[in-house]
Order: sequence, then C-alpha cells, then structure tokens
Amino acid sequence: MPQILLSEGPDQGVRLLTLNRPEALNALNTALLDVLSKELDAAEADPDTRAVVITGSERAFAAGADINEMAARDLVGMLEDPRTQHWARIARFTKPLITAVNGFCLGGGCELAMNGDIIIAGNNARFGQPEINLGIMPGAGGTQRLVRAVGQSLAMQMVLTGEPIGAERALDAGLVSEVCQPELTVERALAIARTIASKGPIAVQLAREAVQRAEDMDLAAGLRFERHAFTILAATDDRREGLDAFQNKRKPEFTGR
Ligand code: HXC
Repeated sequence: MPQILLSEGPDQGVRLLTLNRPEALNALNTALLDVLSKELDAAEADPDTRAVVITGSERAFAAGADINEMAARDLVGMLEDPRTQHWARIARFTKPLITAVNGFCLGGGCELAMNGDIIIAGNNARFGQPEINLGIMPGAGGTQRLVRAVGQSLAMQMVLTGEPIGAERALDAGLVSEVCQPELTVERALAIARTIASKGPIAVQLAREAVQRAEDMDLAAGLRFERHAFTILAATDDRREGLDAFQNKRKPEFTGR
C-alpha cells in the first residue's frame, strides 16, 4: 500500500511532511491523522528538527475530514472519534509549523492549514469551510481560528455559505502571509522554515509562544508575558552570542543554550 504521509528530513533543521492520499484529495481519515500525529511526536523529540512544513499535492492540500468515515459515526461514535485526540495533538505542537497550501484547502483541511504558524499559498489555493453544505459545521477550529485570522464578517460568510475564497482574497484578509506560483509553494515554505531554523531555538520558542498568546490573552497580560519571556532570554548563551556577533560584525553561531 502506498504511504499516506511522506516524511523527509530533517534537512537544515527542517522536516517536510507531505499528505499523500491523492485518490481522496488528501481527505483526513483516522489513519492519516494518526501518522501525522506520530510524525509530529518524532519532530518534537528530535533536537535536529527546528521547524516543520506540512504540505499536500498541487491539486489539494486536503479536501476536509474524510466524509465516508464521518458518515459511519453516530453521536456516541463522534464522541469517541480518535481524530479528536489527533487534532488536539496537532494544536499543541511546540515547534514552528508552516503549512504550504496548493489547491483545495477545505473543512478539516483548512483547519489543519490554520494550525500552521505561517501559511504560504499557491495562487490556485481555495480556502473554505464547506461543512454547512453537509448539514454540519466546522469542528476543529474553523469557527475560532478563522474568525481570528480574517475577522467576523468574512469568517461568518465562509462558514454560513460554505463558499470558498481564493488565494489573493486570503492574502488580503490576512489568512495567509504570501502567495506564489503553485510549483514554488513548498520551496518558499521550506526557505522560510530554514531561516527560522537558523535562529536561536530558545528565542524562537518564546517568541512564537508570545505571538500565540496574543490571541487568548488581554493586552496587559500579553505584554506581561512578552516582558517575562524577553527577560528570560537574558540568561541564554544564544543572547550573549547574538549580541557579541553583532558588535564584532560576524555571523552568530547559536547553540540552543
Ligand atoms: C472523502 C473525499 C473528500 C472528503 C473528496 N473526496 N473530498 N472523500 N472525504 N472530504 C473524494 C471524492 O469522493 C472522490 O472520490 C475524490 O476524492 C475526488 O473528488 P471529486 O469530488 O471527484 O473531485 P472534484 O470534482 O474536483 O471536486 C473536488 C471537491 C469535492 C470540490 C473538493 O471533492 C468536494 O466537495 N469534497 C468535499 C469537501 C468538503 O465538504 N469538505 C469538508 C468535509 S467535513 P471518488 O472515489 O469518487 O473518486 C470536514 C469536517 C471537519 O472537514 C471536522 C473536523 C473535526
């Protein structure tokens, strides 16, 4: 049986994970989310992995949760759905995660993409939450992360009409940070991930956490968190190295200490 998820690297600190169920447009079934969770465990445990890129194919990042699997589950079945644990695992990944999106990025696919700290899109990308067409609604962040990314009006329109938006609209709305030619999406995401991987990992981790906290803290608490994290970095070798390298006009060599 062909592998449903391809894993490459780490190369220059970056692992590339490619969703590979082309026959179902990378629909996220339990088996695929299970391997993805395990790959994220491995990436987290590996000190040589500093950032991860998740992508799909040029036709589809992922066309949603696997509808056939979902149809076989009733209320109790949904409560016991192992995919709930997988979604929670993806959401608590602790290293920088970039999602490189081409083609259909729908439902659970869009929710997976939004777990990325950064989304890079091909100009053929279609982002949508079409669950309403199935008589259901988003269940893995589509009503929460989308509204934080694009604001209430557009999020509400997408969730209630099920109609997708294109890459340029997603860029204007702030859902993605860059749009490129589809054949360049992964390369661009890898280049950004390698840049991040070359920085001091403790500073990256704390800066990432501070930016994430901006979503779920009020401004005063967020500013306090930022100041504490900023101060903690004064205890690191990497800070000494970074400042010394600047003063002596050389390239810093970060050690993660
Ligand atoms: C299972 C899927 C699928 C899905 C596509 N396929 N999406 N199988 N689950 N989500 C399968 C099709 O059945 C078909 O299989 C094959 O992939 C190719 O798809 P086509 O429909 O033939 O392709 P096309 O005509 O190009 O249309 C593409 C499409 C359409 C517009 C993306 O496939 C589509 O509307 N898919 C469903 C999108 C969706 O509703 N997603 C949200 C799911 S609910 P066969 O065997 O016929 O060739 C969700 C909830 C998340 O995500 C909750 C998280 C907790």
